[in-house]
Amino acid sequence: MGQIISGKELSKEIRAQVKERVTALKEQYQKVPHLVVILVGEDPASLSYVTAKERACLKAGMKSTLMRKEETITEEELLALITQLNNDQDVHGVLVQLPLPKHIDENKVINAIQKEKDVDGFHPLNVAAVHLGEKGILPATPKGIMTMLNSTGIELKGKSALVIGRSNIVGKPVAMLLLKEHATVTIAHSRTTNLKELALNADVLVAAVGRAHMVTADMIKDGAVVIDVGVNRLDDKLVGDVDFDGAKEKASFITPVPGGVGPMTIASLLENTIECFLMLESK
Ligand code: GUN
Repeated sequence: MGQIISGKELSKEIRAQVKERVTALKEQYQKVPHLVVILVGEDPASLSYVTAKERACLKAGMKSTLMRKEETITEEELLALITQLNNDQDVHGVLVQLPLPKHIDENKVINAIQKEKDVDGFHPLNVAAVHLGEKGILPATPKGIMTMLNSTGIELKGKSALVIGRSNIVGKPVAMLLLKEHATVTIAHSRTTNLKELALNADVLVAAVGRAHMVTADMIKDGAVVIDVGVNRLDDKLVGDVDFDGAKEKASFITPVPGGVGPMTIASLLENTIECFLMLESK
């Protein structure tokens, strides 16, 4: 039976490290990293995400401001707010919770955030950095996944890795990060016809498609490392993209849902906020 990579435990360790770093930064700079989160509208899922982000910041000793805006805010007003936050030296990170209402162009909004304050790593210049293998702000979920893989002590060099899912937020960047670690990377998606064959060849399998239990035990190579990014509701339970109970019998390491990748995303966001602080304050 595979070992469980607990995102819950690992993220606690990272958050404790972040807290120590914040204490040291406070000594050195007489200020702490400040994250501003903008939430437009009343979506309950988005509200619960941003509340969790805010709580984590405060617990780590950082400053956090949640700016709630009406659903009717215009694109122009939102862009003006971002410009104001870009120019505010007391702000180190700006996160606009997605999705935004349909009348606002998300790309325009993401483009407007100063790249050194882009804690999400969504700005095209940060996206480019990941693809060029250069230094930049990594998106939080892929960063958390790489931290989990690292924690296993397994060397990725020369391993075959399959990423199922091609989103800009998870699939594409995680594939690039695995490539940087010298894995041989395949990206599969909803139109892939030979998924089982590809999966059975994978030493590392990252499932990020958003379909409950689509990866079953018969698709897992013996001893594979399985990272489950999916969060799906099935019969009123939260489940991943991987059929955990079956897959854990084949995997060497596997992440659970919940308590796996999810908590790592917030821990990585805190790390990114520190990175942004350092880029801005040590200029
Ligand atoms: N909506 C869902 N996930 C995310 C995220 O990681 N960042 C932002 N800004 N919005 C999201």
